[in-house]
Amino acid sequence: MKARIITRQKLCPDIFWYEISAPHVACRFQAGQFVIIQVHERGERIPLTVAEAHPERGTIVLVFQVVGKTTLELSLLKEGEEIENCVGPLGNPSEINFFGQVICVGGGTGIACLLPIVRALSAAGNEVISLIGSRSRDYLILEDKIKAVSSSLFIATDDGTRGERGLVTDVLERILEEEEVRGKIQRVIAIGPPLMMRKVAEITRPHRIKTIVSLNTIMVDGTGMCGSCRVFLGKAMKLACIDGPEFDAHRVNFDDVISRLEMFRAKERLAWAVYRQQLEARQMEIKTKVRAKEGTASHD
Ligand SMILES: Cc1cc2nc3c(=O)[nH]c(=O)nc-3n(C[C@H](O)[C@H](O)[C@H](O)COP(=O)(O)OP(=O)(O)OC[C@H]3O[C@@H](n4cnc5c(N)ncnc54)[C@H](O)[C@@H]3O)c2cc1C
Ligand code: FES
Repeated sequence: MKARIITRQKLCPDIFWYEISAPHVACRFQAGQFVIIQVHERGERIPLTVAEAHPERGTIVLVFQVVGKTTLELSLLKEGEEIENCVGPLGNPSEINFFGQVICVGGGTGIACLLPIVRALSAAGNEVISLIGSRSRDYLILEDKIKAVSSSLFIATDDGTRGERGLVTDVLERILEEEEVRGKIQRVIAIGPPLMMRKVAEITRPHRIKTIVSLNTIMVDGTGMCGSCRVFLGKAMKLACIDGPEFDAHRVNFDDVISRLEMFRAKERLAWAVYRQQLEARQMEIKTKVRAKEGTASHD
């Protein structure tokens, strides 16, 4: 189903906020679910988490980072233009219950994926301690929105330009040792780069705290047919699109998740380079035409 871009905002140098019309998703969405979009007819299908849903307006919000060809194509669309296809909501919703005290950890665009979960956990009466991090202040997204739905918020940036200097996982490690929270945290939910999620799992394991991660595996159909999103929980194989995307972090084989994400790196780099060359060639062509027009106009 086509989806029109209603609002387009650049949150930071390469992260965008798109509110798009998708009434079929907005009315059924639950925290933790995602959509699969196709920018144009011949485009690759990519999964993006729904960061907000507005059933009354028939819209959803997608927050994405430009990391390759398809996300670059998406970022070049303007308000009023259409995304060729938007399918969803897909995946299992997050488990939202009253747990008591929970910690939500978000890194990079994972902060946007975490937003509806933090909101739903708070609405269910939990005390939600949110920890968000990015490489620097310029890349930190949605701080105010996360703050508005959290009981408390901790921020870390790699270079210390916002919040504490260091990794968000350093903050988690420290908090879990603090007197007021030690032994009280019922659940940790982490969404971000795989290395961050693996570290969160390592930190919470000795504390025996149930820890959930949302896995950003490669996906193609999103319906359990192609097998490209397989992950291993111990020896059991699962499909992130229909069994996930959230899994018990202490059982996930992160080495396998990370190596599978690397598998298509060479092809992805090539697709990105070719597409950028085509874009530059098109821009040159337009400039040449404009100059030629200006030239003939000045001779008239
Ligand atoms: C359930 C789920 C939810 C996601 N939600 C978001 C989100 O809300 N915001 C966001 O910015 N990103 C999200 N991602 C990741 C996003 O899908 C990829 O960044 C995107 O597919 C990259 O496409 P590309 O062509 O621009 O880059 P590519 O050049 O294709 O790849 C660049 C990087 O993206 C990874 N990637 C490529 N194709 C896929 C794919 N089909 N599925 C997953 N990863 C892929 C590659 O391993 C590589 O690391 C999500 C992934 C999953 C599985
Ligand atoms: S994306 Fe094809 S099986 Fe999950």
